[in-house]
Amino acid sequence: DLHTSIDEFQFDNVFMNASGVRCYTKDELDELAESDAGTLVTKSATQAKRLGNPSPRYARLELGSINSMGLPNEGLEYYLDYALSFQKAHPDKPIFLSVASLSMEENLAMAHTIEDSDFNGLVEFNLSCPNVPGKPQTGYDFDRTQEVLTNLFSFFTKPAGVKLPPYFDLAQFDQMAAILNQFPLKFVNSINSLGNGLMIDPETDTALIKPKGGFGGIGGAYAKPIALANVRAFAQRLDPKIRLIGTGGVTNGRDAYDLILAGASLVQVGTLLQEEGPAAFTRLTRELRAVMQTKGYNAISDFKGQLKVL
Ligand code: DHB
Repeated sequence: DLHTSIDEFQFDNVFMNASGVRCYTKDELDELAESDAGTLVTKSATQAKRLGNPSPRYARLELGSINSMGLPNEGLEYYLDYALSFQKAHPDKPIFLSVASLSMEENLAMAHTIEDSDFNGLVEFNLSCPNVPGKPQTGYDFDRTQEVLTNLFSFFTKPAGVKLPPYFDLAQFDQMAAILNQFPLKFVNSINSLGNGLMIDPETDTALIKPKGGFGGIGGAYAKPIALANVRAFAQRLDPKIRLIGTGGVTNGRDAYDLILAGASLVQVGTLLQEEGPAAFTRLTRELRAVMQTKGYNAISDFKGQLKVL
């Protein structure tokens, strides 16, 4: 049984998509809803529709992917409309609405729209988009993160969490956790892509993707140890009421098992879902169940956070 929960929200499977992957259109979102995933998250929305960066803006790599999509999305109204219809049709299947933004004003305006709506799922505030030229990631600026969350939670009362970039220094985990613990967050989602990698086509000596001179976020197997460390580090530092969502480097059931050992309550799948489609959830579910059976576990709660150290 792969049942899990965040606060009062119940999910019958730990797997879901990572925002950005196969969640751009209502048809794609419906496909996720019909898959074996336990829930889904919409493409990070800005207030207005955006076309994003020029193509090619995603490339498959030997061990993952590189992307610089540039926040193409249909605009908040489109995804909010989808979520409102979805919750009417599936009252027992809570979903996540992802929100990104290019400024504090836009972020707060979108939060007000959601606050004033009938949306009753979870909101993922994305503080970690690496791909909009000239717009640094909020999650790497600790003072700005403090300011954004202070302004947000001065009025926002709906269940929400944040999507963070990867951190690499233990002092960063200490500082970010101290900020996050001040707010009524239901979850923290680690990690977004490894920002601003570069890969080169050996035939042509050319960068693989077009935007930003070839720089883009790295996902897939490259991200696994970083994702594990980020989930573990926050599990050790955050108020236990704040659940962890583990994202990064999942290509098989054991990868998901590892993220759960590190403390994840839900596991998001990005690059693998892009490459395999929603059938990936069927395979991952089977493989995670097999690992659990080998270990003698019947439930996620039997091993969540139970990483052993030497
Ligand atoms: C995009 C990429 C991200 O990693 C993210 O968090 C949001 C948007 C993008 O390029 O569209």
